[in-house]
Amino acid sequence: MKKDFLSIADLTTEDIDEIFDLTTELKTKLKNGEIYEPLKGKTLAMIFQKPSARTRISFEAGIFQLGGHAIYLAPADIGIGTREPVADIARVLSRYNDGIMARLYGHEDIEALAKFSSIPVINGLTDLTHPCQIMADAFTILEHRKTLKDIQVTFIGDGNNVANSWINFAARQPIKLNLACPEGYDPDPIVLKHARETAVNEITIYREPSDAAKGADILYTDVWASMGQEHEAAEREKALANYQINDALVAQAKPNVQVMHCLPAHRGLEITDSVIEGPHSIVFDEAENRMHVQKALMVKLM
Ligand code: CP
Ligand code: NVA
Repeated sequence: MKKDFLSIADLTTEDIDEIFDLTTELKTKLKNGEIYEPLKGKTLAMIFQKPSARTRISFEAGIFQLGGHAIYLAPADIGIGTREPVADIARVLSRYNDGIMARLYGHEDIEALAKFSSIPVINGLTDLTHPCQIMADAFTILEHRKTLKDIQVTFIGDGNNVANSWINFAARQPIKLNLACPEGYDPDPIVLKHARETAVNEITIYREPSDAAKGADILYTDVWASMGQEHEAAEREKALANYQINDALVAQAKPNVQVMHCLPAHRGLEITDSVIEGPHSIVFDEAENRMHVQKALMVKLM
């Protein structure tokens, strides 16, 4: 594996398979009450420019279970890129810690952090990608379906960081990926172009959600206004109004479709209460697996 995990595009197909195998192993150990502390004495510095529940808590609980310790650096704490340059933070944190996890706005900032750090850097979300999320999501699908081969994942909504990471994933594993996004809210064109060069199955962008949902094994959505886009919420609600996972859309998919959302969810906007609380929803299995997958990533990288 590469030194850093900034994007699923940094991983090979074999890396992903190995991470998932290790995730299963670590999850089993935990469920059996087995103490396993390969990161004893190690610390992970966690830099947040944006809020978080799952990412912060799953990394912090996860490294503790592995014998290590996490240091939480809140948005106001270190002023990365404002109080001092990213490159200086990278070199200073490398002198104290064994790993860095960062949730930043600019993807170029996490790239700079990785470049100037001598320790591994893990991307806990940028404006461009959210790789830990999609690794956890795909692991969840694998647990439920026993395979990823030809599993049709349909992403409905804004072509954001989460959508981009699904596209990166489809370039490495044999899922079939459909996306339904309104015009002007497409995923990143460069991410899409690169992914299409190696994807086994097609990656198709639809305008009509019901077209994309036909035959879906997994229906997936995320917020319409991501962190940092709150000021665009009203116009996004208008543009994305038809891109909701509701009972009618679920009826377009396979009868045993499973519904996923990275959370936090806005009930009544991108997903209805009846769907997220309904029998197809696996959102809390998905949230749980953030921790198990990230533990595997930390063991591999740190
Ligand atoms: N899904 C996710 O990353 O959640 P948080 O923003 O709460 O970390
Ligand atoms: N696209 C969302 C994901 C939150 C986990 C955001 O960036 O805010």
